[in-house]
Amino acid sequence: MIVLLFIVFVAKVSASDNIEKSYSSPWHYECKGGLCKKEFITKEVTNPTSLEVCELFCDASSSLWPKPTGHLSLSKNMVQIDPDKIMLDVQSGTQIKYLLERNIVLLKNIVKNVGGKLVNAGGMEMLIRCKGYLEMNNIKLTLHTDESYNLTVIQMDKTKLEVTITAKSYFGVRHGLETLSQLIVFDDLRNQIQIPNEISIIDGPVYPYRGVLLDTSRNFIDKTSILRTIDGMAMSKLNTLHWHITDSHSFPYVSKTWPEFSKFGSYATEKIYNQEDVKEIVEYGLIRGVRVLPEFDAPAHVGEGWQWVENDTIVCFKAEPWTNYCVEPPCGQLNPTSEKVYEILEGIYKDMIQDFQSDLFHMGGDEVNINCWNSSAVITNWMQTVKNWDLSESNFYMLWHYFQQRAMDKLKIANDGKDIPIILWSSGLTNEENIKYLDPEKYIIQVWTTKHDITIGRLLRNNFKLIISNYDALYLDCGFSAWIGEGNNWCAPYKGWQIIYDNSPLKIIKLQHLESKRHLILGGETALWTEQADSASIDAKIWPRAAAFAERLWAEPSSTWIHAEQRMLRHRERLVKRGISAESLQPEWCSQNQALCQV
Ligand SMILES: *[C@@H]1O[C@H](CO)[C@@H](O)[C@H](O)[C@H]1NC(C)=O
Ligand SMILES: *[C@@H]1O[C@H](CO)[C@@H](O)[C@H](O)[C@H]1NC(C)=O
Ligand SMILES: *[C@@H]1O[C@H](CO)[C@@H](O)[C@H](O)[C@H]1NC(C)=O
Repeated sequence: MIVLLFIVFVAKVSASDNIEKSYSSPWHYECKGGLCKKEFITKEVTNPTSLEVCELFCDASSSLWPKPTGHLSLSKNMVQIDPDKIMLDVQSGTQIKYLLERNIVLLKNIVKNVGGKLVNAGGMEMLIRCKGYLEMNNIKLTLHTDESYNLTVIQMDKTKLEVTITAKSYFGVRHGLETLSQLIVFDDLRNQIQIPNEISIIDGPVYPYRGVLLDTSRNFIDKTSILRTIDGMAMSKLNTLHWHITDSHSFPYVSKTWPEFSKFGSYATEKIYNQEDVKEIVEYGLIRGVRVLPEFDAPAHVGEGWQWVENDTIVCFKAEPWTNYCVEPPCGQLNPTSEKVYEILEGIYKDMIQDFQSDLFHMGGDEVNINCWNSSAVITNWMQTVKNWDLSESNFYMLWHYFQQRAMDKLKIANDGKDIPIILWSSGLTNEENIKYLDPEKYIIQVWTTKHDITIGRLLRNNFKLIISNYDALYLDCGFSAWIGEGNNWCAPYKGWQIIYDNSPLKIIKLQHLESKRHLILGGETALWTEQADSASIDAKIWPRAAAFAERLWAEPSSTWIHAEQRMLRHRERLVKRGISAESLQPEWCSQNQALCQV
């Protein structure tokens, strides 16, 4: 009688087995057909799975972003880890050691915040060993840096996991640590921080140049927002912050040689980047595997800030009607016939090379307006009397070529007499008749024309290395209201993450039947021009769309966006959790009811 009653009692308890008692939710997730489905925790479920843990195993690429390009295997055995017991084992006395120690601090913070305040304390120790790099003190990212890495995790005993990251460069190790951080998840059913107890990954990028352009001239972007942008890049394994630091609108860069520029040309005294700011941003980038590449756009896209220099160094500044002299107000171009211009450029180049320590330099070269130069008597007189050139269009391109040569000579002097790879935008100079002026050994071309434009084919046939930034997919500023007049802005509509993800450089060159020139594609870049964005809004405009392109550049997958959708949603959550106000892509319901938000 007593025995029987006991059994009934036990049965009753386990029927309502509470879920509320043992787990924090009545729901768990089951992976079916590559998607995690929300289910009740019934009593048949012996080991319920949280959404984050389900997503770790449900996709062939786990929940990693970008997806690894090589081997990936994870054991399904999740173990709890203690963020305070993450330890680094690294040889001493190298610059790499300092950088890795900084990364371990970052990793611990990420892991601690993975579950907010809910986390139950305790768990295993994790010892991280980094090895394999060939050049212990080489911490400069170049186009030849090997960024690949191998990551393994094994469980040593009941209390200890051992992580080994093998890479040929610091940058590879850094990416390995990022991958590790993405495999550490929050199990919200048990309120534990967990990781699979065995992991093996071989990974490395397809393209060496993976960038985001940020314009800080049309609107000022504060330092904190630039650093936050680098955080998002690190999470997505992007490696180049292309800093379009000056333009016609404002000159926020403090040049050590010519401090008058920012004094005359910044929007406000505090809206500047001084040497300390740049140094901090560059080091912040280095720790996170990101080079900070300066662009000094010339000879067009200049204006504000030049007022202190002699009056004929810039021409057609603020000319009206602006539509005759430039693509957007205010107009302004350098006067290529002025010696003072080259003297000034040398100083700016020297300052930027010293401040940024970049392996590349972006000289701009965007959107020169012939009419602007033709409207200046100083210039047309020089052309006719000094050079004996008439005022035909081809002679204005000669003039541009003359400027480019002189400016490039100054850049070399500023770089202690050494060549530095130069990037230029595609432009009138990359047209059929003018391409002869550019040397493919010296110039890398960043292409902004549409993906179907014949410019891409012409450049490849002439053996130029390319960075792909076709505006019909990669301009993040498209699709909002016009800022001059009514309607939508010039490159509307908005480019959704799906279009960006599917914007394959490889497919683009196949369209031109130039697959054999694949080795000339260095990578690509999404661009945020900031006529209509500032510190208050850049996060949602850049993220998660720049991350969509990051996977394209890292992995160049043969599959399209639809196969990446769940991971994209997960990565967007990751960006938000780590402090970036990324745009929302779907109702949260879709993450919890995967497969039900598809057509
Ligand atoms: C990663 O492992 C593979 C296979 O063992 C090996 O071929 C490769 O060289 C390793 N990569 C690195 C960066 O150590
Ligand atoms: C520069 O100023 C001088 C003296 O005022 C004037 O003669 C000259 O025309 C100016 N040049 C330009 C390009 O405005
Ligand atoms: C420059 O201006 C002159 C004089 O107005 C004109 O004859 C010439 O065609 C112009 N050149 C170009 C390339 O527009």
